[in-house]
Order: sequence, then structure tokens, then C-alpha cells
Amino acid sequence: MALALENVSKHFGSLVAIRNLSLSFGVGSIYSIIGPNGAGKSTVVNMIAGSYSVTSGTIRLGSTTLSKLPKYRIARLGVARTYQNLRLFDAMTVLENLEVCFFPQSWPALLSGVRRLAKTERLEICRACLERFHLSDVADSLAGDLPYGRQKMLELARAFVTEAPIVLLDEPAAGLNHTETKEMAAMIASLKREDRAIILIEHDMDMVMSISDRIDVLNHGELLCSGTPELVRTNERVQEAYLGTTEELDDIRKLAQSRRAQGGLRSNAGIVRH
Ligand SMILES: Nc1ncnc2c1ncn2[C@@H]1O[C@H](COP(=O)(O)OP(=O)(O)OP(=O)(O)O)[C@@H](O)[C@H]1O
Ligand SMILES: [Mg+2]
Repeated sequence: MALALENVSKHFGSLVAIRNLSLSFGVGSIYSIIGPNGAGKSTVVNMIAGSYSVTSGTIRLGSTTLSKLPKYRIARLGVARTYQNLRLFDAMTVLENLEVCFFPQSWPALLSGVRRLAKTERLEICRACLERFHLSDVADSLAGDLPYGRQKMLELARAFVTEAPIVLLDEPAAGLNHTETKEMAAMIASLKREDRAIILIEHDMDMVMSISDRIDVLNHGELLCSGTPELVRTNERVQEAYLGTTEELDDIRKLAQSRRAQGGLRSNAGIVRH
């Protein structure tokens, strides 16, 4: 099953957030979408998931046109996602946060569109999922009481519990420390499957470079470059757009080094999260 954006544009009033973007994603791979802040990455995810309408162009999943469907129908067709900002049910347990994906009246269920399961079957799936995401020990803790890193892992788990073939991850490593980011990267890499496409938005370049099969670089809502991590890493236009000129990059590196020495800013292979 392939997901395709065909000449997609998105305007917010006079702001053109995405301009004539065409991309396709097949199952079996991990794709990363990178680009500077405001490049339009989340807008792409929001359009695929149906949270934003498209201004023009078409988004298809196989032969089905997604871009005219409400988001719960898109989810039912097998598109799951995480959000740039956490959206857990803080007052529910970790297990319940997964279980709710199978309750017919809840928004995660509406968004995941899974069939109703008997409680035992539901619990079995959710417990296996917690195990997979190293969350079994906190199954009965309130989600809101978890440390931030484990909340991010729970949100990841929720995107995978329904076995959707298309999974959109909007900055799963945002706010994580170095060790947690490495764990997150390893976890996402391990979730790659022949019958699943993972589309990742991420600013952590170590993560992006190490787990992506293809990287699409957006700049000002347009596709700047698309290819293997090696190709993107060495593309001069990408370096300039994403990192600035060599001189600017040197300045950023120096700033990052001095801040890091003070225990502040996180740096990833010379790329600094703004
Ligand atoms: N709901 C909205 N209403 C108005 N403008 C929006 C909306 N969502 C996004 N935008 C604008 O569209 C542009 C792209 O935003 P988007 O959130 O897609 O960027 P991004 O690449 O995800 O950035 P970041 O790395 O900071 O998350 C920005 O100029 C943003 O202000
Ligand atoms: Mg974003």
C-alpha cells in the first residue's frame, strides 16, 4: 500500500505553508521529513492525517483519495500518528491509555478505527504492546505521573498498538535527553516492517541519519532534496538551507559548544535544535 501526495499545497490565509509538494511512501521503509522550523513538516503530517484540509492537490492511500475524508475515516484506513505535543490521558493509567484505542466511543478509537475487541483480547494486545515498548512496569501508573521520556514512549506505543500500516511520528524525540533519544531511535528502527511505512519528523540528526531509508528535506514549504541519508548529508543546498552557510554553521557550532559546556543546549552532529 502506497501513500502519495500529488501537487499538494496548503495556504493559511496569505501564508503558503506547502507549495506543490509531491511525495510517495511505500511500506517497508522509514522516511524522515526534515527542515528548519516552520518549513511545513507538521503541516504535511496534519494533511495526511486529515487534521488539515489541503488547499489544492491530492493525497492518496492506494486507490483511495484521503484528502477529501474526515480524519476518523483516514485513521480507519490505517493511518496512525503521534503529535508534536503530547496528547495522553494524564488521569488514566498507562494500560488504559492503550486500551482506550479499542473503545468505540473514544477519540483514539475513532481515530484508529479498530474493531471492538473482547476485554481479554484487548488486554492481551495492550500488555504485549507495553512489553514491546518497555512500559510493563508502569502499566498501572497514571500516565501523567510518568517521567516525560516514558510519556513520549507511551505515545509511540499508542501509535503502533492498532497495527496501522502508515504511522506518522511528529518529533518523537523532542525534549528527550541523549540516552532517551538513542533508545527512541532504536525503538523506531525496530518497528520497521514489510507491511508498514513509518514517516518521521525529527530534528535530531543522529537519529534521522541512522534510521532513515529516505530523507525528504523541506524548506519554505517546498521539497529541497530527497534521497538517502548520505546524499542529504552531503547536499550543499541542504546544508545552507537547514544549517546556514559554512560561516553561520561555524558560529552555531561555537555557540552550541559554549552552551553545552554550561550544561545547556543539546547538539547533534553539529546541528542545533532552535
Ligand atoms: N493552523 C495554522 N494556522 C496558521 N498557520 C499555520 C498553522 N499551522 C502551521 N502554520 C504555519 O505554517 C508554517 C509551517 O508550519 P509547520 O508547523 O508545518 O512547520 P514545521 O516544519 O512543523 O516547524 P517546527 O519544526 O517548528 O515544528 C509556519 O509558518 C506556521 O506558522
Ligand atoms: Mg512541526
